Amino acid sequence: MRRAKTWLPALPALALAVLSLGACVSPEQSQGGGNANANGGGGATAGGGYQRKTKKRGETVRIGFSMDTLKEERWQRDKQLVEARAREVGADINVQVANSDDATQTKQCDNLLSLGMDVLIVAPHNGEIAASIVEAAHRQGVPVISYDRLIRNSDVDLYVSHQVERMGEMQARYALERVPKGNYVLVGGAPTDNNAMLMRKGQMNILKPAVDRGDVKIISDQYAKDWRADEALRITEDAITKTNGNIQAVVASNDGTAGGSISAIEAAKLTGKVVVTGQDAQLDAVQRIAAGTQSMTIYKPIKPLADSAVDNALKLAYGEQLSAPDRIANGKIDVPSILHEPTAVDKNNLMQTVVRDGYHKLEDVYKDVPRDQWPKVSSAPKGSAGSTFAAALALLIGGLGLALKLR
Ligand code: BGC
Repeated sequence: MRRAKTWLPALPALALAVLSLGACVSPEQSQGGGNANANGGGGATAGGGYQRKTKKRGETVRIGFSMDTLKEERWQRDKQLVEARAREVGADINVQVANSDDATQTKQCDNLLSLGMDVLIVAPHNGEIAASIVEAAHRQGVPVISYDRLIRNSDVDLYVSHQVERMGEMQARYALERVPKGNYVLVGGAPTDNNAMLMRKGQMNILKPAVDRGDVKIISDQYAKDWRADEALRITEDAITKTNGNIQAVVASNDGTAGGSISAIEAAKLTGKVVVTGQDAQLDAVQRIAAGTQSMTIYKPIKPLADSAVDNALKLAYGEQLSAPDRIANGKIDVPSILHEPTAVDKNNLMQTVVRDGYHKLEDVYKDVPRDQWPKVSSAPKGSAGSTFAAALALLIGGLGLALKLR
């Protein structure tokens, strides 16, 4: 396990870009290990020195879930799954969505606190500004869980997310294996989102040696405000114009930005000639993967994330110990963290991942592909020896393919 440490951006241009953005998150991050036990119980003094209010087991816990956006498909799943888990465990849940506005998110959280929430789960729009939400909550004895995106420079109680830096590495490795030499465009996410910084760090971990060797030339390394597809389109268009169409890979940090980049690639008649990465396994992206216009995505099942946020919200509210095996430095403390595993997905393992898990239906994923080119599925009845054998074989082949292709 790596230890928490300060990361200095490899590229001076990136440092400049980051410094020039007002309340943007700084890229100082790392993922590490260790066993974290949050303090708690009976109004004990919690990490950060605040007096945490606790409830008795059996009392209903009221959870406030503050979301930045519902724009990307995944956030709609997050909302549904967090609500469903809260219902399952008998907690009350109040969800607010800030539509990418910091003042709205702060106000909504103040309102949740005045409504008497016992715990806040916050997916911040701006990782720096959201520190004030943690302070306000702690002043009232209310613990805060940072959801998917890290709240920086604060005593936030717990962070639940995925292995974000690794996702950046997976994207860059995928591209580099297919384009060991060539011109690259890096399309980062929102500069206000710590995840965008972590992903770029992961991407550069893989790409930098190839850049230093002179094999890879980075034509453009920018960030798309609020992860907007139109920003990704503009960044990619500019790179295409600058090189007269000579780009071989676009490392887009999520599927939304991949979609914007692919529009620019299609307009320049470069479809199929450029490797394009993504993240989220959202429906339009897996359709593009099946159809061959996007190369890969990162699949992050949302249910384990939603469940771990709600289950740990209850533990915090009851003052129980958390089991948080990771640590992430947020500029102030090493935050106890639970980081779920992502999976790289391309056309070779769509069936063994998003389709197998029921994340998307086969007929939706392959809707733009002629039916005779759909993957063959076993016609043996479910549960029969034949179907069990076929499923085991498919998984084995899929697993082997994965191990070879997506190392
Ligand atoms: C999330 C991604 C999402 C992006 C844009 C990131 O923080 O981790 O899953 O695509 O925000 O909403």
